[in-house]
Amino acid sequence: MEVVTTVAAVRERVRLWRAEGSRVALVPTMGNLHAGHLSLLAAARSRADRVITSVFVNPLQFGPAEDFAAYPRTLDEDERLLREAHCDLLFAPPVAEIYPEGGAQATMITVRGLSGILCGQFRPGHFAGVATVVAKLFNIVTPDVAVFGEKDYQQFIIIRRMTSDLLLPVEIIGAPTVRAPDGLALSSRNRFLSPADRAVAPAIYHALRAAVERLEAGDRDFIGIESGGWQALAVAGLRPDYFAVRDAVDLQAPRAPSRELVVLTAVRLGKARLIDNLRLALLR
Ligand code: PAJ
Repeated sequence: MEVVTTVAAVRERVRLWRAEGSRVALVPTMGNLHAGHLSLLAAARSRADRVITSVFVNPLQFGPAEDFAAYPRTLDEDERLLREAHCDLLFAPPVAEIYPEGGAQATMITVRGLSGILCGQFRPGHFAGVATVVAKLFNIVTPDVAVFGEKDYQQFIIIRRMTSDLLLPVEIIGAPTVRAPDGLALSSRNRFLSPADRAVAPAIYHALRAAVERLEAGDRDFIGIESGGWQALAVAGLRPDYFAVRDAVDLQAPRAPSRELVVLTAVRLGKARLIDNLRLALLR
């Protein structure tokens, strides 16, 4: 695996691979890699000849009161895991390489409607920061395919919409959420949990499961399901930002033609803010 830190070096490497006729996949990450990230690499590997992983903690997607400075940076360990996973190229740029104008990024990508709901209500500017950095990464790497985790479901939908709206020639793949045996979705932010908080965190998965079971049983009282989920989380000692049942395609309220639903939640627990979701197909 080659490790590069400049845009020019990535472009040169991709140019050579293209000349060989290789298909190139990109897995964007912020590092501190775990089995969830590695599952994306496996999905990328099955769809391309060459896999590039980017590790970049993107300042633009963190709010002023958020954890940018505290976000775990473990590049040596990430590099080791990526070698084991047979990644072909690690792109780990410094901030100045992605933001050459410094903090003054005049051009931003806003996916209207989708960016302001759910997590967007609680993290103003977050999804514009995500969409903008992903567009930059696509322009640097020019991948044929890019893989994103369904763990960050709203992010996945926003990237898919941005790619389609801007006619970017990148196939967007979603990969299923990887969980700990007790149901907690793997996340770099789980390391902010104290042992006591870690012990109650699976309540998130249980609340989502309970909502999905009600929906699968034919219950269509969405408001009741949402308040039931909220209460289950609060009783377990978590502080929900939201607990929502939505159409899985556009994240709007479920409506008659909805074929697939997603139940999404974000909670605060100790120093961490955790998100998770479960999807279900509607049988009719
Ligand atoms: P990061 O949080 O590092 O996540 C990188 C990718 O790994 C995302 O697509 C995310 O959905 C996926 N992922 C995280 N935990 C997962 C799990 N338990 N199972 C499956 N996939 C999982 O998401 C970001 O970085 C950034 O916003 C980024 C897209 C890189 C833009 O900066």
